[in-house]
Amino acid sequence: MTQTTEAPAAATTKQSPVLSLRGITKRFGAVQALTDIDLDVYEGEVVALVGDNGAGKSTLVKVMAGVHPQDEGTITFDGRTVHIGSPAESRDLGIATVFQDLALCDNLDVVANLFLGHEKTTGGTLDEVGMEKESWELLRQLSAKIPSVRIAVASLSGGQRQTVAIARSLLGDPKVVILDEPTAALGVAQTAEVLNLVERLRDRGHGVILISHNMADVQAVADRVVVLRLGRNNGEFTIADTSYEDIIAAITGATDNAVTKRAASKLTVQVEALEDAPADSAAAAPAAQDEASTEGENR
Ligand SMILES: Nc1ncnc2c1ncn2[C@@H]1O[C@H](COP(=O)(O)OP(=O)(O)OP(=O)(O)O)[C@@H](O)[C@H]1O
Ligand SMILES: [Mg+2]
Repeated sequence: MTQTTEAPAAATTKQSPVLSLRGITKRFGAVQALTDIDLDVYEGEVVALVGDNGAGKSTLVKVMAGVHPQDEGTITFDGRTVHIGSPAESRDLGIATVFQDLALCDNLDVVANLFLGHEKTTGGTLDEVGMEKESWELLRQLSAKIPSVRIAVASLSGGQRQTVAIARSLLGDPKVVILDEPTAALGVAQTAEVLNLVERLRDRGHGVILISHNMADVQAVADRVVVLRLGRNNGEFTIADTSYEDIIAAITGATDNAVTKRAASKLTVQVEALEDAPADSAAAAPAAQDEASTEGENR
């Protein structure tokens, strides 16, 4: 990991984000997956990252997780500009990512899964007792409902498996936890469990980035919502004073709701100019949507 110290490595305060992305651009050959993305995450908050299929959410997660380093843009962690060149560098910084597939070993028990690759040893043998105690302690802190830490992960429910994957991500004491669609495959009760867990992560002071397609989940636990559309930022909202419709409009780029209409009416001049422009300037249209949606944002 290469670190360029720009500012003094000041401890993160409430005023400065623990993780800050600026101008992140990522291309896959001819595909422009991300263009000029900004994202801030503060400690002790849940930021929902939402957007339609192909909006660039997973790509942005992979940039932060060190899987696909960005082509352009800067990442600041804890006040320092950092280069995240690999998953190990991301973890070492203090960013834990729980990918959608969870990457659990079904045939191993909960303890083995939690400590996989980081086993504790005493005098050359596995410290099973120590690992089991630590497992229970971690799950207790998360108020996780796991019947036994000695049963194979295969026999756990979807919500319990998600809990184990999240618990595992916490072992390195990360500052930021990224959860990619943690409730996608879960039923109602299990979803509620995982949302409780997300709140507990926030209470423990982690900055949480929650990727979700489910607006009910987002509205239940997120403090802020960052919307991506076609690989660009398309609005940022404080959840407390934002309606479901506002978020959906930003996700879809719709202009047929009250908020965007109100914003659009203020942009009449620009919109008319766009309409008059030749067809080959269609690329300018998303910019108008950007402005329309930021008009409704609440920073
Ligand atoms: N490895 C890759 N190679 C080529 N193109 C890619 C790659 N990964 C992502 N893309 C493209 O980048 C764009 C953003 O994809 P991404 O998976 O980040 O979207 P997403 O918001 O996570 O969508 P979904 O909600 O469907 O998961 C898409 O056009 C996708 O096809
Ligand atoms: Mg995705």
